Amino acid sequence: MPPARPRTYLVTGAASGIGEATTARLRAQGHTVLGADLAGSDIDADLSTPEGRTRLVDRARELSGGRLDAVIASAGLHLYDPRTVQVNYFGAVATLEGLRPLLAAGGDPRAVVVSSLTAIHPHDPAIADAALAGDESAAIAAAEAAVQRGEGHAVYGSSKNALARWVRRTAATAAWAGAGIPLNAVAPGTVLTPMTEPMLATPGVREAVDSVIPMPLNGHAAAEQVAPLLDFLTSPENTHVTGQIVFIDGGADATLRGEGAW
Ligand code: NAI
Repeated sequence: MPPARPRTYLVTGAASGIGEATTARLRAQGHTVLGADLAGSDIDADLSTPEGRTRLVDRARELSGGRLDAVIASAGLHLYDPRTVQVNYFGAVATLEGLRPLLAAGGDPRAVVVSSLTAIHPHDPAIADAALAGDESAAIAAAEAAVQRGEGHAVYGSSKNALARWVRRTAATAAWAGAGIPLNAVAPGTVLTPMTEPMLATPGVREAVDSVIPMPLNGHAAAEQVAPLLDFLTSPENTHVTGQIVFIDGGADATLRGEGAW
């Protein structure tokens, strides 16, 4: 049955995992979803590059007629490589900032980005601070340096830490809250998707992942179990949740940080 008010969404990372599951859920409700990904979506764009980010916004404007009701930025990758900060931070921020004018023209506009539980893990301040300063060359150099030091694992969590902090500093500004646009992040624990399946299938790695992302409530999540939260945060029903990093992590944040952080 079509929804009372069909909406137009743009979802990045729509070809796989959390983005794919969310796209399927929204389309099943009768909404229009413009999917974006490297290939095989409505908009093919490489968000690691400035050209790809511009292409995303230009094609979104053309295909939507200049008006979006919600943006869900899920595109991301987990490599010991500077591209991880280029996509996870700079690609995500360019998506949200570039599409904000289209949201401003939409109805009950909403935006959400996918951060990660790893945002609370120890991170590399050189990567995260360069990202937050908007200095992509410095962030790439810091990520390369981390890889050279044998600390390539820090690139991912640092990119997600910066992204969460960007949401905190941005959501309450005139451009977002002042324009009536809730802006939030979700922070999943371990979700079973093509990103994590190879890691979790590797002997020893699954145990290492579970020790740093403990999920006492129901264990690893399916992508379809994350989609309803993204759906709510971008629905008209969400009138007052903004600037939040919403952990959907089976209790990992509560386990790791206890009562000291909330
Ligand atoms: P996935 O690998 O299934 O999907 C990610 C999508 O992003 C893919 O379709 C991929 O093509 C796209 N993508 C990668 N690089 C891109 C680029 N340069 N330009 C455009 N699109 C690009 O992974 P999953 O798990 O669905 O990840 C979605 C988001 O959730 C990511 O931001 C990830 O970091 C985050 N996340 C995932 C967790 C997990 O355990 N799977 C946990 C916490 C956060």
